Amino acid sequence: MRIVVLVSGTGSNLQAVIDAVRAGELDVEIAAVGADREGTYGIERSDEAGIETFVVNFNSFPTRAEWDAALADKVASYRPDVVVSSGFMRIVSAEFIARFGGRYLNTHPALLPAFPGAHGVRDALDYGVKVTGCTVHWADAGVDTGPIIAQEALAVADSEDEDSLHERIKVIERRLLIDVLRRLAAGEVPAPA
Ligand code: GAR
Repeated sequence: MRIVVLVSGTGSNLQAVIDAVRAGELDVEIAAVGADREGTYGIERSDEAGIETFVVNFNSFPTRAEWDAALADKVASYRPDVVVSSGFMRIVSAEFIARFGGRYLNTHPALLPAFPGAHGVRDALDYGVKVTGCTVHWADAGVDTGPIIAQEALAVADSEDEDSLHERIKVIERRLLIDVLRRLAAGEVPAPA
């Protein structure tokens, strides 16, 4: 199974996928890693790992539609079976997703449909929930929406801050993402509707 991974930031979840592939624990080929802006640590990590990388800079295009089409062309050039949004903080179009047969995977650090968006951990903490978690799902063109594949919950500790909670969530999120990729590669995950 060939995957293209899209990142916007540090790419620590991507690193876990790279490590699992290298350790022979996950039988997927990371065809390329792409970002929506220059200078991300996610791209730097991938370069260091000898993986092909690309940037389709959101700010270099006059319209979102042109950026979206350019990103789709670039991703398609690697012929992925699955595209993974791993901390990719941009919404792509329905046309983008359709081009990859709907096989656009996303992870989110909250129990969707609760607390979608760029600040899922902060929003959950601000609400005062006692349980939160993470979600791996087939993404559609909404903000963190689409059919859920896997979720896991964890209890929020008293007086926990956003960073510590996010780090605890990411530990689970990495395991869940790798497990879903493994099941996908084995043909055990239903295709998106
Ligand atoms: C992850 O927790 C991911 O779920 C979240 O960004 C983080 C990226 O971390 N994505 C979203 O919030 C999407 N709405 P990383 O760059 O260290 O892998």
